[in-house]
Amino acid sequence: MSIYEELESNVRSYCRSFPVSFNRAKMSKMYSEDGREYIDFFNGAGALNYGHNNDYIKKRIIEYIENDGISHALDLHTKVKEDFLATFRDLILKPRALDYKVMFCGPTGTNAVEAALKLSRKVKKRTGIFALTGSFHGMTLGSLSISSGKTPRAGAGLPLTGVTFIPHPYNHPEIDTIAYMEELMTDEYSGVEKPAAVFIETVQAEGGVIPLSDKFIRDLRELCDRQDVLLVVDDIQVGCGRTGKFFSFERAGIVPDMVTLSKSISGYGLPMALLLIRPELDIWKPAEHNGTFRGNQLAFVGAKAALEYREKNGLEEKTRQNEDLIREFVTERLLPMDKNLRYRGIGMIHGVDFGAVEIEDAAGLVARECFLNGLVIERAGRGDCVLKIMPALTIEEDELIKGLEIIEKSMKKVLLGNK
Ligand SMILES: Cc1ncc(COP(=O)(O)O)c(C=O)c1O
Repeated sequence: MSIYEELESNVRSYCRSFPVSFNRAKMSKMYSEDGREYIDFFNGAGALNYGHNNDYIKKRIIEYIENDGISHALDLHTKVKEDFLATFRDLILKPRALDYKVMFCGPTGTNAVEAALKLSRKVKKRTGIFALTGSFHGMTLGSLSISSGKTPRAGAGLPLTGVTFIPHPYNHPEIDTIAYMEELMTDEYSGVEKPAAVFIETVQAEGGVIPLSDKFIRDLRELCDRQDVLLVVDDIQVGCGRTGKFFSFERAGIVPDMVTLSKSISGYGLPMALLLIRPELDIWKPAEHNGTFRGNQLAFVGAKAALEYREKNGLEEKTRQNEDLIREFVTERLLPMDKNLRYRGIGMIHGVDFGAVEIEDAAGLVARECFLNGLVIERAGRGDCVLKIMPALTIEEDELIKGLEIIEKSMKKVLLGNK
């Protein structure tokens, strides 16, 4: 029995899909203790947009540690926090004419979502929240309440209330979702209180790579303005350049009232989470939402370096080129294998949907075959039927193609029976 079976809780999950022990990683490659090399299309579930151990970022962090930079400081003023804030203002907010206050939350994404929920309710003095079916916002009680998956919800152990789920427009093109929401908000017989906020992911990542259209995002912004409801964009997984631009909502030309960021914001896979708040909504009292780990100083160092790296290396343009490459590969070489395959993708997040394929657990079989062939790739969505292609934004073209070819080979074996 391994130490994991002996000691680690049953709750462990990803390690079950990739049952080796990893001991090294560099950019888009991971290495297991037995010396095998893997291409990483999993990307720390979105936390490693700049790759593993990116040298530019690593150098800054090592220098900081070697100089005995302060490593824990609650929310005290520190030089690296100041530097991060100034860089975030100059490289991200100012060029986009965005006016946000930055709230440092506890270190994981769900902390930022909890803060956004609390603040929305406090600002609007209403309890309800609208969220879309298929959404995933985290595992603590508030964020779980606005996440729609039955299994994680069942783990809550008590009723999750205060949310109204709205059918996602991708799955329900026959419904005018905006009109439906407006009716719920305005009809005094709808049975639903007007919400404090609508929470969206512009692309549902855990939900199976399901993007909202630019038009829908714009129409939702208008609806929220008309009805005096806040719009919160959860950019924890698809922010930080994943869809091309730094923020995923930029493509629709809207400005949310609040934005959550985490995962890749620290640049180095270190824990960090932010809530961006329109200044007039920042009505927190000091210490009203507190936490011991609201300022991982190494993460600040990494985050500043990552924002610089992004600009210096033209990651936005590289993402556009890789988007075309992935789309062409999937369309020309993967989809023809089975007429029931479906595909969605934007920037560097793409999903091949096996939901309608006749082979049982086809996506699971393909993912397992990929792993045997040296590719780490995860699944998402209903029944885990979507193969999620999410490499680091820094991946080299030859590695990207090699990874895609492993998917092709694995799909041929599972779908077409090729050895
Ligand atoms: C969109 C989104 N929101 C929130 C979270 C929760 O983040 P964390 O796991 O860091 O709490 C995730 C995690 O996958 C996510 O994808």
